[in-house]
Amino acid sequence: MTLDATAANKVLGGLRPFPVAVTTIEGGFANGLMSLSAGAASIVPELPRATVSLTKYNKTHEMLLNSGVFVMHLLSAAPEQVDKSLEILMTLGGSSGRDGDKLSKLRTKTGVTGAPILLDAHSYVEARVIATLDVEENTIFVGDVVAAEILHEGERLRIGEAWGKLPADWIEQYETNHIPQLESARSYRAGEKV
Ligand SMILES: Cc1cc2nc3c(=O)[nH]c(=O)nc-3n(C[C@H](O)[C@H](O)[C@H](O)COP(=O)(O)O)c2cc1C
Repeated sequence: MTLDATAANKVLGGLRPFPVAVTTIEGGFANGLMSLSAGAASIVPELPRATVSLTKYNKTHEMLLNSGVFVMHLLSAAPEQVDKSLEILMTLGGSSGRDGDKLSKLRTKTGVTGAPILLDAHSYVEARVIATLDVEENTIFVGDVVAAEILHEGERLRIGEAWGKLPADWIEQYETNHIPQLESARSYRAGEKV
């Protein structure tokens, strides 16, 4: 039976509706990206764990492998905060740390792991990586949560709402940037990259 990829993507799409901003620091350089792969990874309430999946193409991936620490932020949907949320999303998800310092454009404080915390995020968990799973084009990171804080009350921003508010020219640029990332991922899957 041939794979019905349209059906598969319908089943799998939208399972994780909350975009998260993932930050880390390595050798004094702070960086981060946006991700739609965030999840909880523990059933023990007093011992929380977080998981995120990053593409090897992205600079944050290698930095996280080396640093072993990350902060995962939810963004705010509250009317007075949503512009800040879109600014975070566009700053971290719109270009690579390879091309310049993104974090200095955002308000931050330093977390217990040394990684930067985004002060305009809704909330965050800070984690130390305890396991990684290499899955060709990306790596799944699992971390023990060592700190957490709710910075702003109200609802968390969902990706559907964010897409509806993002400027068309930013979306166009994002889609252009996504092409080499996809090509890189396909090369890993084809065994052309290790
Ligand atoms: C809504 C959204 C979701 C994204 N999800 C992921 C993801 O799950 N994993 C990933 O590696 N990149 C994801 N990206 C892409 C990165 O955020 C983007 O390529 C970023 O510019 C990488 O920056 P870096 O090279 O500084 O790490 C997403 C981007 C957006 C806007």
